[in-house]
Amino acid sequence: MIHQKRRISLLKQLDDNAVVIISTNPQQQRSGDTSFPFRPNSNFYYLTGFKEPEAVAVFSNNNYTIFLRPKDKEREIWDGKRLGVDDAPKALNADKSHSINMIQELITDIIEKDCAVFFDPDSNEIDSNISEALTNHEFKSVIPYINEMRLFKDSNEISLMKKSANISVKAHELAMKKTKPGLHEYEVQSIFDGHFIKNNSVHAYSPIVAGGENACVLHYTENNKILNDGDLVLIDAGCEFECYASDITRTFPVCGSFSRPQKEIYQIVLDAQIAAINSIRPGAKVSEPHQITTKIIREGLIGLGILESDGDLSQFFMHGTGHWIGLDVHDVGDYKLKDEHRTFQKGMVITVEPGIYIGNNDKINPIYHNIGVRIEDDVFVTDNGNTVLTADLIKEITDIESIMNN
Ligand code: GLY
Ligand code: MN
Ligand code: MN
Repeated sequence: MIHQKRRISLLKQLDDNAVVIISTNPQQQRSGDTSFPFRPNSNFYYLTGFKEPEAVAVFSNNNYTIFLRPKDKEREIWDGKRLGVDDAPKALNADKSHSINMIQELITDIIEKDCAVFFDPDSNEIDSNISEALTNHEFKSVIPYINEMRLFKDSNEISLMKKSANISVKAHELAMKKTKPGLHEYEVQSIFDGHFIKNNSVHAYSPIVAGGENACVLHYTENNKILNDGDLVLIDAGCEFECYASDITRTFPVCGSFSRPQKEIYQIVLDAQIAAINSIRPGAKVSEPHQITTKIIREGLIGLGILESDGDLSQFFMHGTGHWIGLDVHDVGDYKLKDEHRTFQKGMVITVEPGIYIGNNDKINPIYHNIGVRIEDDVFVTDNGNTVLTADLIKEITDIESIMNN
C-alpha cells in the first residue's frame, strides 16, 4: 500500500494526462558469466517495492502496468524463482502485468497519444528502447519530483533506517571491542562483513578501515595494512537494510587509549559534531551544520598552533559536513532552492561528519602527524528538533577507552 500511496502522491504533482515510466537497474556483469549481486534502482523500488531485475513500471491516474520477467522453468533452476506475469498484479497491486519481452510492442497501446510521458532521462537501455517506440510524445523528467518526495522520509522509511542504523551501530561496537595492535585492517572489516550478513544486510558503500596515516586518504578502501600500536583507526562503514542505508564513522585508538595529541584533535572534532547536530531542527538552514563545524575546527586548530589565524582550513578539513541519506547513501534531494540554502524540515535525514586530517606535514608539530579523525552520525529531523538514529554508538573519549579496555 505504501508504494501505491507514493505513486498517487507523485501523480498528483504531475499533469492530469501524465504517464510515468520507471525501470529498475540492469543486472551488472562481474566476470565471464557471473554477475554482481543485484540491487534494484532506488526510484523504481521506492515506487513499486519490487526487487527483481528487468522490470518496468508504467502508471497513470487510470492504470498501473508492470512489465517483468516471465516465469521460466529452465532459468529459475539457475537463478531462482521469479514472481512471473500471472502473480504480479496481486503481489504488486498493479492493474495489469506483461512480460518484459513485450514492452516495445505493448507500450504504444498503454500510452495514449496525448499523454505527457514522465521518465528518467539518465535511465538505462530498456528505457531508450521505449522512447524509440514512443514517437510524437512529450517527454519530461520525473526525477525532480521523485527526488523531492524521497527527501522526506515517511514513518515506514524511518523504521527501516532505524533498523539499518542499529545493525551498523552493533558492528561498530564489536569492532571497538575486538580491535588490537597487529590485526590487519581487513580483519577488522570482516567484523562488519559478518555482522551485516548475519542481519540480512549488505554494505551500503565500500567500507573504510584506515589505520594511522591511511585515515588521511579520504576514500581509502584498500583495508590491507597492519594496525599499529599508538595509531588511531578510522572506520567508516554502514549497512544497507531493505535498501535503506546507514553511514557511520568512528575513530579510536588501536591500543585502546588515546595519546594526548590524539585526544586534543579528537575532542575538537567531537565538539564540532555535537554542536552541528544540536543546530539541526525545522527552520534552520541546511548550511548551518557546516558553518558550525568549520568555526569550531578552525578555532580548535588555531588553539593548538596547527593553523594560523588566517590559515586555510581546507588543508585539514577538506569535505562537507554531511549529505542526505536514505535509499542511497548519498541520497537525492536539493540542498538549495532557487540558489538559496533550504531549511531543514521534518522527515529529512542527514549525516553529520566533520573531520580533521593531518598527514606528514613538515610545517606541523610532528606529535600531530598521521592523525585522521572523522565522527559521523545519521540525524533525522523531527517536529521540534532531531533524533540521532545512530545515537546508541558511543563517541566520548572516556566511553571509547572504557569499552576497549573491559
Ligand atoms: N561513507 C560515505 C560518506 O561518509 O559520505
Ligand atoms: Mn557520509
Ligand atoms: Mn561515511
